[in-house]
Amino acid sequence: MQHPQNTTIIGLQWGDEGKGKMVDRLAENADMIVRFQGGHNAGHTLVVEGITYKLNLLPSGIVRPDKKTALGHGVVLDLWALEKEMATLSAAGISITPDRFMIAENTSLIMPWHRVQDQNRERGLGDKKIGTTGRGIGPAYEDRVGRRAFRAGDLLDQQDLKARLGEFSDQVDDFAAFCEDMMRFTKTLSPHIVPLWHVLSEGQRNGEKVLFEGAQGFYLDVDFGTYPFVTSSNTLASQAATGTGLPASAVGHVLGVVKAYTTRVGSGPFPTELGDATGEHLGAKGHEFGTVTGRKRRCGWLDGVLLKQACTINGIHALALTKLDVLDELPTINVAVAYQKAGVTYTHLPLHWRDFSGVSVVYETLPGWQSVTEGLQDYDALPANAKAYIAYIERLTGVPVTYISTGPGREETIVR
Ligand code: GDP
Ligand code: IMO
Ligand code: MG
Repeated sequence: MQHPQNTTIIGLQWGDEGKGKMVDRLAENADMIVRFQGGHNAGHTLVVEGITYKLNLLPSGIVRPDKKTALGHGVVLDLWALEKEMATLSAAGISITPDRFMIAENTSLIMPWHRVQDQNRERGLGDKKIGTTGRGIGPAYEDRVGRRAFRAGDLLDQQDLKARLGEFSDQVDDFAAFCEDMMRFTKTLSPHIVPLWHVLSEGQRNGEKVLFEGAQGFYLDVDFGTYPFVTSSNTLASQAATGTGLPASAVGHVLGVVKAYTTRVGSGPFPTELGDATGEHLGAKGHEFGTVTGRKRRCGWLDGVLLKQACTINGIHALALTKLDVLDELPTINVAVAYQKAGVTYTHLPLHWRDFSGVSVVYETLPGWQSVTEGLQDYDALPANAKAYIAYIERLTGVPVTYISTGPGREETIVR
């Protein structure tokens, strides 16, 4: 089967790289935009013609009226969150009809008790907590691999669903209200539930272009990230196939989104974190507050060690460098090229978080440009030192930077 110019967009850091903005931008040339992992722990912000959209579950393509969107089975789906998000966007004039928004029938559901389990566990961990979004993501994935999940397709058989729900009467405070909600979902959401693998493969046969929208970031990947301070899904590019039902060859062009500096929400080691005025400046200028939890994002320099490793493992074909404008005022810019701890030099992520924690960082320092790049759409208009920073990242990774984002707006993008 042919896979006509599919694209997979993933984040290469700890999330919030600006994936939503890039997906919205590239959706222009796609037919269908598909999420393949994560859940409503994601927060993707798009700014289109002055209107800001904050999406947690719905794929970013939903704001373009001529595009189809879908949730692959790699996602964990909270039906209450979905209902709320659909209502908010519908009220903003966006149509979310079944032909435009599909849910894979084999998608595992996040149930109310998963959220309670997530929050209780975090409380129990005290100062060792992961800093999860508290949305039940981990426990829902556990039930999936534990082979006991409710799945979207279970909504299609009301009688069977009712009988199974009966076993969970002690898991929710108000069981009658819970059942009522679930029965409402069987009516409102069933038209959206499809064998997505089949819909996608038919689409590929007809020459449709799919844009896969990653959530979280590569260092939150459950296997390759900074374990255990990670999310509970695979966030890497190949998950685009595994989480949707298209073959591995359908992943297509892999675009890695990297912020010009680094942020992290939640706990876990962060070697290039800045606890000083520069860190504060990045946070303030970059508006680094979590969309999902409102938490202040930790800020620091670009980590070239992690970026290089992310490009290798994901087979990144091209990079989208975002939030370049946030660096505009800095006199110098640092990039991490190695770590050192206890006489050992690391040029990759150490396996254990204890080895990664408290490393001293070897930096290379580049000159800043101290002029405005905000809103620029033309590569030639960039200051020489900004071009040098981009060229440095290309040399470091061996990957071309084909998009440069200079502001939150759809148009505030340089295409090379
Ligand atoms: P995502 O989770 O990867 O989709 O990223 P988020 O939407 O959570 O966070 C990125 C934030 O930066 C959002 O508020 C975007 O509107 C904003 N943003 C994206 N690209 C740029 C950029 O190039 N410059 C600036 N200043 N803001 C940007
Ligand atoms: P987007 O798609 C940033 C982080 C949480 C926590 C860890 C585990 O907007 O980039 P979880 O609730 O998933 O079990 O939490 O993962 N996290 C994110 N950080 N952006 C995200 O999504 C995130 N989704 C989860 O803060 O550290
Ligand atoms: Mg985000």
